[in-house]
Amino acid sequence: MKISIITVFPEVHDSFLRLSLIGRAIEKGLISIHTIRFSDFCQPKERIDEPTAGPGAGMILKPEVVEKAILHCEEQWGTGFKIFFSPQGTKLTQRVLKRLAESVNQATERPALVTPSTTPHLILVCSRYEGIDARVEQKYADLVLSIGDYVLMGGDVPAQVFLEGFLRLLPGIVGTWSSVEKESFSGPFLDHPEYGLPVEWHGMRIPDIVQSGNHAAIEAWRTEEACKKTMLRRFDWFASSQPSKEDCTRAQRIIPPHYVALMHTQVKLKEGIIGTTSITSIDLHDTARSCATYGIKNFFMVSPLVDQQAIMATLLNFWISEEGRQYNYSRHHAVSRVRTVHGLQDVIAAITAQEGTAPIIITTSAKYHDHPGKIDFTSHGRVWESGRPVLFLFGTGQGLADELITSSDFLLAPVQGMTDYNHLSVRSAIAIILDRWLGLHPDLS
Ligand SMILES: C[S@@+](CC[C@H](N)C(=O)[O-])C[C@H]1O[C@@H](n2cnc3c(N)ncnc32)[C@H](O)[C@@H]1O
Repeated sequence: MKISIITVFPEVHDSFLRLSLIGRAIEKGLISIHTIRFSDFCQPKERIDEPTAGPGAGMILKPEVVEKAILHCEEQWGTGFKIFFSPQGTKLTQRVLKRLAESVNQATERPALVTPSTTPHLILVCSRYEGIDARVEQKYADLVLSIGDYVLMGGDVPAQVFLEGFLRLLPGIVGTWSSVEKESFSGPFLDHPEYGLPVEWHGMRIPDIVQSGNHAAIEAWRTEEACKKTMLRRFDWFASSQPSKEDCTRAQRIIPPHYVALMHTQVKLKEGIIGTTSITSIDLHDTARSCATYGIKNFFMVSPLVDQQAIMATLLNFWISEEGRQYNYSRHHAVSRVRTVHGLQDVIAAITAQEGTAPIIITTSAKYHDHPGKIDFTSHGRVWESGRPVLFLFGTGQGLADELITSSDFLLAPVQGMTDYNHLSVRSAIAIILDRWLGLHPDLS
């Protein structure tokens, strides 16, 4: 494979291309990498950049200079697959790298790096200043990559980041292929922890199991540790990775048990009065089904009112009965996990009795509040690291009383659309929140 790096500063790449596995791959002739300087395509004393058109400060690389540099590379080494770098591009991920590497390794169809010549040619265009004239990107870029949501001074580091990730996926570049195949982002779990000698370092010992010599036990321990780490650090990765049933079962063993309580007491009524609300059959059934879908252990309907308790019993009894089970097993399955209780203290007591420890309480609201434990839908690690059960509190009426929110461990970010309308039914909010917190979101790109 031939790689051309077009840049303002070829010197930036000197040691990068000389050292490490990339240097060795070049030495072995597995790849050849050329750096091309933009200014070589200017007239004497001509600048490579010019002020951006329209109001505002900043310089932009001249389109004709970039074009000449690209065409030069193609004349020399054949048609190239041209990658531009920009914070506005497709996010560079292991999935993107894999797809690109596969298109080289297997010569599959687009996005193909394989050119009409038998040797693939990759052209990396590293811009600087305010970037590249939009028309050049439109005409020449086969792919625009961003290495993350931040703005760097130039495309040289992004090009190096790309090469570090991409080249190791080509056969022969990394000595041991298995170390490429079994690592973070190659499956649903991140890599397991690794240790080297000495056995004890700063008072910390390598886990005994790692030194046991029992390969099966070590493998099982590694998988478990990898799963734990993934759940605490990158649940989003797991959720996007199309995990198997077995992976989900393993993950569910690590994730602490979750509970939901729908409060019909300690909620705001009109004019901010705190009081009780009436239960509804539709909230009960729909929430029970959402809870069953996302693996919630119990769904508590909370009302201190005796009449309301009686109505709930009527609604539940048929579905919990053998007749209900025969009639519609999936409804029976969901409704069997519903518990009716008088107050929040009963919910906490029931969970504590079941799990041996009190739950962490996460409150929810349609609005932002001041709260020291504000979390969003990526905060799983903060909540799960203690291993305590998790209780989500949802309010009926106009929402949970402020004192419930203030005394909770965490307050979850509100679910919002882009309009001023902010009146989701509580059962819709519950379904959305459970999906964002515990749902699988396959990345099919
Ligand atoms: C200062 S940046 C230009 C940023 C551009 N005005 C914007 O706001 O999107 C100059 C160049 O650095 C490179 N660059 C900066 N941040 C990058 C990132 N996160 N990923 C990829 N390339 C980046 C790009 O080549 C970009 O054209």
